[in-house]
Amino acid sequence: MLTKSLSVILSSKQCYSGVSGKIRAQKYVLTKYFQGEPKKSDFKVVEEDLRDLKDGEFLAEAEYLSVDPYMRAYMIGYKLPTDMIGGQVAKIIVSRNEKYPVGKYVTASFGWRTHTICNPAKYNKVASLLPLTLLPNIDPLPVSLALGVLGMPGNTAYFGLKEICQPTPGETIVITGAAGAVGSHVGQIGKILGCHVVGFAGTDEKCEYLQKEVGFDRAYNYKTANIKAALREGAPNRVDCYFDNVGGEISSTIINYMNKYGRIAVCGSISSYNDSTLPKATLLQPAIVLKELKMEGFLVNRWMDRWDEGINANLKWLNEGKLKYQEKVYKGFENMVEALVGILKGENTGKAIVKV
Ligand SMILES: NC(=O)c1ccc[n+]([C@@H]2O[C@H](COP(=O)([O-])OP(=O)(O)OC[C@H]3O[C@@H](n4cnc5c(N)ncnc54)[C@H](OP(=O)(O)O)[C@@H]3O)[C@@H](O)[C@H]2O)c1
Repeated sequence: MLTKSLSVILSSKQCYSGVSGKIRAQKYVLTKYFQGEPKKSDFKVVEEDLRDLKDGEFLAEAEYLSVDPYMRAYMIGYKLPTDMIGGQVAKIIVSRNEKYPVGKYVTASFGWRTHTICNPAKYNKVASLLPLTLLPNIDPLPVSLALGVLGMPGNTAYFGLKEICQPTPGETIVITGAAGAVGSHVGQIGKILGCHVVGFAGTDEKCEYLQKEVGFDRAYNYKTANIKAALREGAPNRVDCYFDNVGGEISSTIINYMNKYGRIAVCGSISSYNDSTLPKATLLQPAIVLKELKMEGFLVNRWMDRWDEGINANLKWLNEGKLKYQEKVYKGFENMVEALVGILKGENTGKAIVKV
């Protein structure tokens, strides 16, 4: 639980909070590069006394923090020590910016920290991985969805599938990492678009969830299934679109089973994130040439300028009951590392978040 020892002294009349008090923020600082699985000892938890707000700023208290696979992959690019990166849903608790009133929620890349002072005019949406968004009222939906179906993973699914794969009705889409935040969402958009959808996920329970609850046509446990046989059975018309979340040999097998002019959206390669050397996989060039495939990597912030389009489309589908979601909720700011390790091990179905 967050300590709410409130003593930020706000003398300005522009303060929209009746509370004055001092906030001590906590944050995770990465002090060692990950080797294999992330460990608690790779981080230091640091406390900071926050200063008073200036005009234009607000102070937000994290309610939900996101754990995402990119956190494992990206930190090698930062000079240490560095504040840990990440998105969060935070409630504005003090404000000197009338556009960001107390009680409203924001999502932003504030990192793994409990409290953040933010000046929206100075928020760098390009350097950050997420835009700063003032959440509209999505009652009765939980605000945590702004980290999942109504946030970055939802937009990854929306833009990655529609813009890169460009599926047409009747085509077959195969998705790896299919029960995760992005994968489970991609499959549902595929069904909304009238496609045949096949997923690969890491447990029988996840596969059952995909088939029985979210409407995938077929789902296979990649840890126990023969991938080629599964493809022959689940995708008898072969594969037109492959949404690749994992990379590695399973991707080579799927790509070799694609139709002419197939499209591959390379979203991630989680199968290798904990490895220090990149694994080898079967050569793809013959399939790409002979089937004239199109393979394109993407980062979701390519569509930062169209962010709201994705959020609004996903919200509409949610409200119409066409999009289902599941959250794996870890409890406590002290358990951030366990949560990150958890997704890399496949503990989650749907979006993994931490309730502070
Ligand atoms: N390009 C972008 O802009 C962008 C944005 C967001 C996410 N991504 C990428 O999209 C992928 C999915 O992200 P997400 O947020 O939706 O995470 P997620 O799927 O919710 O969580 C990660 C999942 O990956 C699976 N996994 C772990 N190790 C694996 C392995 N060795 N082989 C196959 N699957 C493995 C686990 O499920 P199982 O039980 O099925 O193994 C786990 O639940 C990741 O590669 C991520 O980096 C890319």
